[in-house]
Amino acid sequence: MKKKLTRKGILLAGGHGTRFYPATRSISKQLLPVYDKPMLYYPLSTLMLAGIQEILLITWPHEIELFQKLLGDGSQWGIHLEYTTQVAPRGIAEAFILAESFINNDSVCLILGDNILYGDGIAAILQEANASEEKGTIFGYYVHDPERYGVIEFDAFDQPINIIEKPTHASSHYAAIGLYFFDNEAIEIAKSLTPSNRGELEVTDMSRYYLQQQKLNIIKLGRGVAWLDTGTPSSWLEASNFIQILEHRQGLKIGCPEEVALRMGYINKAQLIELAKPLLKSGYGQYLEQLVK
Ligand code: TTP
Repeated sequence: MKKKLTRKGILLAGGHGTRFYPATRSISKQLLPVYDKPMLYYPLSTLMLAGIQEILLITWPHEIELFQKLLGDGSQWGIHLEYTTQVAPRGIAEAFILAESFINNDSVCLILGDNILYGDGIAAILQEANASEEKGTIFGYYVHDPERYGVIEFDAFDQPINIIEKPTHASSHYAAIGLYFFDNEAIEIAKSLTPSNRGELEVTDMSRYYLQQQKLNIIKLGRGVAWLDTGTPSSWLEASNFIQILEHRQGLKIGCPEEVALRMGYINKAQLIELAKPLLKSGYGQYLEQLVK
């Protein structure tokens, strides 16, 4: 019988955050709140929703303690969190090298700490990507300004033919979002990369390699899905407003790790009540409490 795959998660939360200066001069962007919770709760919830429970957070050496204070070892949410450092932002692909011993023989999913993914049916899409053992999976999202991203090019038959990092003239509107499901080969592929013109190990080069090997699923996310990037003050405010409007209208939270943990069966109701207690003065804690009721 084939061994069931374990997939490790990486939450990449370093970066300079220069587009957000001066706010991010002394604190990591990923610790800033997006409406009612820290930014990194959203990508963390995405990993948890995919069914990933062993997660490595990577950030600057001087930021580690702040992240640990916020998230601990993850056991309160039924997951296992480890931490390691990236001493300088030398590229997203470097994460797979830094995480080598953590990934060990397993497959891996990396998410960027400033990416928010929301939409009906997204849990099933993530869980399917997680279960796919044969191939890597990345996601394309239609944007008006593809030149800012890694762009996925398609041929006349809608088959992906190339992925190019920040092209001057993009031939497609599909940006690759900051979420990558790769097999264990990712470690060796990352090691074989040379830095790009901007001096970074590019995850786009890894995706292109998988594509060339015909080992890549590319899932186009439709207009019912929101992929929000929170890298600039404007995009951050837009994301906060988006979350506030939806949460207020529905009375349901987006990117709430406690709720995901309950729904995924990582924790039970009694554990959730305990988590809510110290937070009861905020709407967040009250929300957790009424989830159980
Ligand atoms: P970027 O958009 O490349 O960078 P940034 O947002 O930190 O910085 P700037 O405003 O200066 O452009 O990074 C996207 C995400 O990936 C962000 O969450 C930071 C993270 N990241 C790392 O943790 N390490 C890295 O080496 C890189 C390149 C990014």
